[in-house]
Amino acid sequence: MNKTVIGVLASGRGSNLQAIIDAIQAGRLDVKIGVVISDNPEANVLKRMVNYDIPSLCIDRRQFSSRQDFEAAIAEELNIRHVELVVLAGFMRILSRYFIDRFEGKIMNIHPSLLPSFPGENAQQQALEYGAKVSGCTVHFVDEGMDTGPIILQEAVPVLEDDTVEALADRIVHAEHILYPRALALYCEGRLTVAGRRVYITDKE
Ligand code: GAR
Repeated sequence: MNKTVIGVLASGRGSNLQAIIDAIQAGRLDVKIGVVISDNPEANVLKRMVNYDIPSLCIDRRQFSSRQDFEAAIAEELNIRHVELVVLAGFMRILSRYFIDRFEGKIMNIHPSLLPSFPGENAQQQALEYGAKVSGCTVHFVDEGMDTGPIILQEAVPVLEDDTVEALADRIVHAEHILYPRALALYCEGRLTVAGRRVYITDKE
């Protein structure tokens, strides 16, 4: 069977992308990364890619007069690379209906909280300020809302008494590195079925 081609969009550090690459190299994930795109020319994720033979580039929002033109440029690049699944890995922009229509049901995101709690920015800080005793991470399909799409997998981590935002974020991102490759593997094995808000996972044959 042909490998699913994924396109990764990332704005920052790129540790989730690294976890995906590591999972591929370890034989735990059978996908091909067709392209890595960052919207941020300074992003560390682009520096990481120097070590790999994977096409990577920056598509800078500031070089486009409208959001639609920016998203069209990303979509074009993904299509050129025959991307079948768009993987948001720390991509810090909301995608509009225009983009989502082009990859309907084929965009995944990872978010650093147990959704629907603490959507949007600074999810770890929100959890601490709220006084939550448990937080975690969520992999979900992307719809037009802010972190509202159908949930694929979640992993909980404790919030400790002496946590700082950084300490909690580190604990959560460690869980993300295990969860995201697992969710991608389920997708590529054809084991995810979406029915309304629910994502059903079928057993391995
Ligand atoms: C991750 O914690 C991810 O969940 C979060 O950004 C971080 C990216 O880290 N994403 C969001 O907050 C999206 N709303 P990374 O660049 O090291 O993968």
